Amino acid sequence: MKINKNLFLVLLVVLSLLLSACGHAQALSPAVPSFPPLPEKTGLRIAVATDLHFNPDYRPDGTDEPVQAMYSLELADALLWDAKRQDADFILLTGDLCNGGKPHRHEGLTEKLRAAEENGLPVYVVPGNHDLAPIKQTDFAAFYADFGYDEAYSRDPASLSYCVVRDGLMLLMMDTAGYSTGAIDLPGAPGYDAENPFFTESTLRWAEEMLRKASEQKLRVLAAGHYNLLPEISSDPASTGYYLENGSRFAALLRAYHVPLYLSGHMHMRAVYQKNGLTELLTEYPLAYPTAYSVLDITDDAITYTPRRVDVESWAAESGQTDQRLLNFAQWQQDGLWQYSVENVDYMAKKNPLSARERSQAVEFFYRVMDAFWRGELANERESLVTLPGYASFFRCAEGYAYGWWLSELIDTTTPLVKGFTIPWQ
Ligand SMILES: [Fe+2]
Repeated sequence: MKINKNLFLVLLVVLSLLLSACGHAQALSPAVPSFPPLPEKTGLRIAVATDLHFNPDYRPDGTDEPVQAMYSLELADALLWDAKRQDADFILLTGDLCNGGKPHRHEGLTEKLRAAEENGLPVYVVPGNHDLAPIKQTDFAAFYADFGYDEAYSRDPASLSYCVVRDGLMLLMMDTAGYSTGAIDLPGAPGYDAENPFFTESTLRWAEEMLRKASEQKLRVLAAGHYNLLPEISSDPASTGYYLENGSRFAALLRAYHVPLYLSGHMHMRAVYQKNGLTELLTEYPLAYPTAYSVLDITDDAITYTPRRVDVESWAAESGQTDQRLLNFAQWQQDGLWQYSVENVDYMAKKNPLSARERSQAVEFFYRVMDAFWRGELANERESLVTLPGYASFFRCAEGYAYGWWLSELIDTTTPLVKGFTIPWQ
C-alpha cells in the first residue's frame, strides 16, 4: 500500500503518545508476553537506549490518569539498573535525553548517569532535537563532559559530534542537530540557518577523517545519532520533522568505510532498515509499551541485536518502591495496551458503527496486531492475524481514520528483523 508520508508521521507521533497511556483496570487482564532472553555474553555487550525524555516537572500527582511518561525518572533508573544487570560494558543514549533543554532537567539526568558510571556502567550520549535551548551547545558539552565529551578521541569543532575509541571499536557519535539554531554557539560551528536537522560540510569532513583513522588503526566502527538515515522519510525534503540534510551523504560515507550499523532514535518506534549494505536500528522508546532497549553483542565476526524489556518490577522491588504500578509494571503496561485498543475502536466506531460482537472482535484484532508487533512476531503471524474475524470489522470501523492506514502499513511491511538480527562485520 502506498501511504501518505505525512499521515504516517502523524500516526507515529500519535501512536507513541497513546501507547504511553495506561488506562484503568478493565475486566480483561491480558497475559504479559515473555520476551526471549538475551544470548549468552561472549564478547563486548553494548546497551543502546533513546529518547528518555527525562522530565522531573511531569510527575503523577493524583489529578491526572498516570501515563508512563510521568515515570521518566524511575524508568531512567530502571533502564540503567537493568543494563548493568545484563552485564552491559557501556550504554549509548542516542538523544532526546531530556524533555526540553532546561538546565535542571539535565542536572537531574546527569546525576543518575553519574551514579550509573560509579556502578560500573559507562555512558556515552549525543543530543537530540529536544536537548538544547535554552541550554546551548557548550553547556551541553559541559553537562555531559563525563559522558563522552571529555573522553573523546576527537571532537568535531563544528558540532557536538565526537568519537570514542575503546575495546577495539570506534564509536562515531554524531550530532544530527535539529534543535534551535539559537543554541549553536561552538566557536567552530559555521553560521547556519536551518530548521531541518543536518550535517554540515565540515562535520562530514571530520567524520571522514575519523573513518580514515579507524581504517588505518584497524578499528571497527559503530555509528550513532538521533535522527534517522535510511527510512524513506529521512531523505525526502518534503517530509517535515524527519528529513536529515546530508544524511544520505553520511550514509554513503559509512558504506564507503564498511561501517555496517547506524543506531538512531527520534521516531519513538522500534524499526530496522537495510539498504545497500548498511543497517539502521531505530532503538526502542522506553517511555512507551513495552519499555525496552537494544542490546548489541559484539564478537570478532558479527554484531547481534536483541531487544530487551526493562525489568521494571524487579528494579522497583529491589529499590524499595511502593507504587503498585511500578511493582507490577509489565501488567500495567499490558492492560494499557488493551485499553488503548478498546479506546481507539470505540472512538472510530462513533462514525463507523459496529455491532457488539463486531466491536469485541475488532478490539481483539487491534490488540493482537499490536501485541505481535512488539513481540517482534508480526511478520511471522501476519497470515493468521489477517484471517481473524476482527480483521474485516476493524478495517470497516477504521475507514477514513489514520489508524486504518497505519495498521495496514504495519501488517504489510514489518520485517522479522525487529525481533533481532546478526550482521557480520564487513
Ligand atoms: Fe527526537
